[in-house]
Amino acid sequence: MQLDCLWTVHALLALSSFALGNPLINDPLAAPRVFISFKELRSTGTAHHFAYLLNTSDYRILRMDEDHDRMYVGSKDHILSLDLHDINKEPHIIHWPVSERRRMECLVSGKDANEECANFIRLIEPWNRTQLYVCGTGAYNPVCTFVNRGRKPQEEIFHLEPGKVESGKGKCSYDPKLNSVSALINGELYAGVYVDFMGTDSAIFRTLGTKTAMRTDQYNSRWLNDPTFIHVHLIPDSAERNDDKLYFFFREKSSEMGQSPVTQARIGRICLNDDGGHCCLVNKWSTFLKARLICSVPGADGMETHFDELRDVYIQPTQDTKNPVIYGVFSVSGSVFKGSAVCVYSMADIRMVFNGPFAHKEGPNYQWVAYTGKIPYPRPGTCPGGTFTPNMKSTKDYPDEVINFMRNHPAMYNAVYPVHKRPLVVRTNVDYEFTAITVDQVTAADGNYEVLFLGTDKGTVQKVIVLPRDDLQTEELVLEEVEVFKVPTPVTTMKISSKRQQLYVSSAVGLTQLALHRCDVYGEACADCCLARDPYCAWDGKSCSRYSASQKR
Ligand SMILES: *[C@@H]1O[C@H](CO)[C@@H](O)[C@H](O)[C@H]1NC(C)=O
Ligand SMILES: *[C@@H]1O[C@H](CO)[C@@H](O)[C@H](O)[C@H]1NC(C)=O
Repeated sequence: MQLDCLWTVHALLALSSFALGNPLINDPLAAPRVFISFKELRSTGTAHHFAYLLNTSDYRILRMDEDHDRMYVGSKDHILSLDLHDINKEPHIIHWPVSERRRMECLVSGKDANEECANFIRLIEPWNRTQLYVCGTGAYNPVCTFVNRGRKPQEEIFHLEPGKVESGKGKCSYDPKLNSVSALINGELYAGVYVDFMGTDSAIFRTLGTKTAMRTDQYNSRWLNDPTFIHVHLIPDSAERNDDKLYFFFREKSSEMGQSPVTQARIGRICLNDDGGHCCLVNKWSTFLKARLICSVPGADGMETHFDELRDVYIQPTQDTKNPVIYGVFSVSGSVFKGSAVCVYSMADIRMVFNGPFAHKEGPNYQWVAYTGKIPYPRPGTCPGGTFTPNMKSTKDYPDEVINFMRNHPAMYNAVYPVHKRPLVVRTNVDYEFTAITVDQVTAADGNYEVLFLGTDKGTVQKVIVLPRDDLQTEELVLEEVEVFKVPTPVTTMKISSKRQQLYVSSAVGLTQLALHRCDVYGEACADCCLARDPYCAWDGKSCSRYSASQKR
């Protein structure tokens, strides 16, 4: 273990006065206190590396089922059901490859045998008490089916339902490289996907249920412009369920040719109960709006450095379900230099932007401006049957002028800025980028902390806390950096179980489970334990161990 034993109070003070003086100069605190290699991690006994499927790859979908103590995993040709306590303990494995005929058809169309002509599982949603709904790319021919997982884990049931395979079009992309996102809500499947073989027709789709099938306006680059879908999450707006909105997080090409930046991070939303228009926008969302997410820092020369390449989103629930905290991980788009950042957004700021001016463009040769004309009623983007529209039960009842307005004004003029107008964490001049995030709320001896777990493109996870220093500055501590795979490979997905104090990390080559803390690696002495400043750990009189609120210090 590479432990920095020279960490003294003196050094700590010296370093903290240096922190974030210039955010573009990588401050020394970004170096981890402890670095743990994959081999060392295994020797600590605090991790499990999933080892059953040697030949499969592309572990990507991690669907937690905390009630059943299971995690469902989607990978290449396989669906897994794993024990959350130990992912290697009696895993249930379903092999769901494509037929030989389909594989040949895929190969004949010029696609790659290993990277494309297989069934990459990209959607796992709970369907009812016994079944999961699962979709895969089906070698460029998306397919969905039901998986029976039993009522209780003790039943040891995990198998495909025979004879239930259906088309996955509009639910899962054809190309495994085009990420899809999905949410199954009240029997309706909402998905951000590419709908066609060529991968040019992107859409937010609604299928499967009893409501009308819906999508975004086709080939309308004002709505979606080559998006990469990252995340989807239902966030209520009020106690009135009709106001419920589904938020999509994605990045897309900026709408102006030659405009900098080339990529923009976006938050988009739709009303769950949108039924489309009746004059126009028939079977198309009539409440779709989007806004830009900004994550940037001022550089030494006064120019902003923008992090526009949204990579992952984590939604931290709070007591108030209407106001979760949104964490985004971004990297620099283009390849001038490597850099990434974490920005935090509040729902209050997001709602303010959606309630603000619409972006307007008079014609192809005009600039985007704030729309200042008359805004039709009900305000575009309002959900039917909600707090402000109790008498309009469906978007089909909306006046034509509302629907027409929506079609041409899907974007908000103002952008959403992060809390405190700056990133929480910035990394530049390093040889890696962040690719994934999850957050844990921890009660420590001296108060509550948000602990960030940040996955990198070199197959490590950094455990980070950010402490306020004064009104303007924060101090960042990288408590540990852990190598979670045998070979350096980008982290694709991370899920956390606070209840079990475990983190689950996936990549193209593997799946690893690790404990949120390894207090004893900080050393044998009381001082080592306290100076580590790991909120999970405390000196119990004999050793550095997991702090619990009931424990006397
Ligand atoms: C796994 O791959 C190796 C080498 O490519 C091959 O020899 C072996 O038969 C494969 N095993 C399975 C179960 O497909
Ligand atoms: C769950 O859904 C499947 C597929 O629609 C259905 O066959 C099954 O009866 C349902 N089970 C329960 C318990 O509702």
